[in-house]
Amino acid sequence: MTTEFTTHLTEAVVDSLKDTADPRLRELLAALTRHLHAFVRETEPTMEEWEQAIGFLTATGQTCTDTRQEFVLLSDVLGVSMLVETINSSEHGTESTVLGPFHMTESPVRELGADIDLVGGDEPCVVSGRVLSRDGTPLPGAVLDVWQANDQGFYDVQQPEVQPAGNGRGLFTADTEGRFWFRTCVPSPYPIPTDGPVGDLLRATGRHPYRPAHIHFIASAAGHTPVTTHIFVAGSDHLDSDAVFAVKESLVQDFTETDDPSLAREFGVPNPFRHARFDLVLNPVQS
Ligand code: BEZ
Ligand code: FE
Repeated sequence: MTTEFTTHLTEAVVDSLKDTADPRLRELLAALTRHLHAFVRETEPTMEEWEQAIGFLTATGQTCTDTRQEFVLLSDVLGVSMLVETINSSEHGTESTVLGPFHMTESPVRELGADIDLVGGDEPCVVSGRVLSRDGTPLPGAVLDVWQANDQGFYDVQQPEVQPAGNGRGLFTADTEGRFWFRTCVPSPYPIPTDGPVGDLLRATGRHPYRPAHIHFIASAAGHTPVTTHIFVAGSDHLDSDAVFAVKESLVQDFTETDDPSLAREFGVPNPFRHARFDLVLNPVQS
C-alpha cells in the first residue's frame, strides 16, 4: 500500500543524513537509501520475504571466517565486484578482473623459474612474459603476486590438511629486462564454494558455480598503478558463463602445446609442455 507516509519516507531518511560530516559518505548513503527504497517500491516484498532476505544476509555474514569471505563471493556472483573493478580501472594497459576471495594469505617469495605447483599436478606448464609500462618500456624489478587453484580446483587455504601452505602461490620479481617466468600445472575449471548461502542462491536461480580455468596475478611496479587480473586458459569450459562474470576477451591466453626439448631443459620441465606467454602492461601513476 502506498500512502502519503511512504511517499515522504525516502526524502525524510535522505534529509536525516544532511549533517554527515564526510560529503562522500553522505552521497553514498543518500543514493543507497533512494535505490533501496525504489527497489522495495518496485518489488513490494512481503514480510516473510523481507525476513528471508535478512536471514540470508545474516547467514552470509556468519559464514565468513579468517579464510572465507562469503560477502565477497556474494558481490562476485551478482556481478558487483566486476562492476566496481572495471569502473576503477584504466582503459589502457592490461585489463583488470576480480581479486576473488582466495588472495588471503601472503604468497611465498620465489625465484624466477620456480615451480608454484608443490604437489605435481597433471599437466606441467610454463608461464612467461614481460612486465611493461604503457609505452612498452620494460619494468625491471616489477613484482608479480601469482595464485591459482590446484588441478582438483581447490586453493591451498581451502584444504589446509591436504595441500602444503603456499601451494599454487608465488611472489616473483621480474629480471633486469622486466621478464618473468615460472612453472606450474595447467589450471582446471573449478566451482566456487557452494556450501554456504551463495551456493543456495545459485541453486535457487538454476546457475552453475563454475569458473573457467585461470591463474590470478597482481602486478606492481614503482611509479605505476598495480593491476589485479587473471589469465584464462583458451578453450577452457565455462569461458562464456563464468559464475562471477570476470572473463574479458583480452585476458584469454593460449597455453600452447610445445615440443621443444632444449626449451624444456632450459625451463626444467618435461618435454612436451604447455607454454603461456603474455605481457602485463601497467599505467604510470599520473603526476
Ligand atoms: C577465484 O577465482 O579465486 C574466485 C573469484 C571469485 C569468486 C570465487 C573464486
Ligand atoms: Fe581463482
